[in-house]
Amino acid sequence: MARAKTAGTPLVCITAYDAVTARLATAADVDVLLVGDSVGNVVLGFENTVPVTVDMMCHHCAAVARAKPDALIAVDIPFGVAHGDFSELLKICMRLMQECGAEAVKIEGGVAMAPTIERLVAAGVPVWAHIGLQAQRVMAEGGYRKYGKSELEAKSIFDAAKAHEKAGSFALLLEMIPEDLAKSITEAVSIPTVGIGAGTATDGQILVMHDILGLSPQKPSFAKIYDNLGSRATAAIAAWRDDVRLRKS
Ligand code: KIV
Repeated sequence: MARAKTAGTPLVCITAYDAVTARLATAADVDVLLVGDSVGNVVLGFENTVPVTVDMMCHHCAAVARAKPDALIAVDIPFGVAHGDFSELLKICMRLMQECGAEAVKIEGGVAMAPTIERLVAAGVPVWAHIGLQAQRVMAEGGYRKYGKSELEAKSIFDAAKAHEKAGSFALLLEMIPEDLAKSITEAVSIPTVGIGAGTATDGQILVMHDILGLSPQKPSFAKIYDNLGSRATAAIAAWRDDVRLRKS
């Protein structure tokens, strides 16, 4: 992943939640599979990522790992966990890496999360730090919005990026921030930046697979639909339904 900074070819990162999606992304030759806690709202029917538990992340991460993808497997540390007891967090990272096939963890958080990331990195856990919009804070913030539009907020995101770099994060995920802020962070840090809704100046991009395949009932405006598999799947199921009713199948 570090090579993306110098190679100039952007990293392609995408979510995968099970062996099927991991196989699809592997066949498409992506660089990173994120077992995102977006599994909660995208696949499991929750309103947001807050109800997602460590057990759920383990279950989905292990399914992705069983597909034996070539891409790096990163997994989200779910809501609240990184803010609790450090030894508990380390045990969860160990479980995700030793039993569920994760090769890295992603943690949402600002500057205050840097000391925790530093301790995890010291323990040998590769950490991808997620700043800007943090979906796990949706209840506290009262919804989703673009972050870093004010000077104060932009500075706090920039400072968090530098703190996470110093703490030893191997990459930064920049979500829903202005393109110029994403560009200045990308130029100011030595680790790769991966953007989502943050323009095209980052060292890589990530999107939710179900959004680009037309499988999400609600997708963010920045995610382009590359194929409408949702309506194609419904049409296929309806064609089979007709065959069954006509006793052709
Ligand atoms: O959980 C997730 O899928 C994410 C993406 C929005 C990058 O964190």
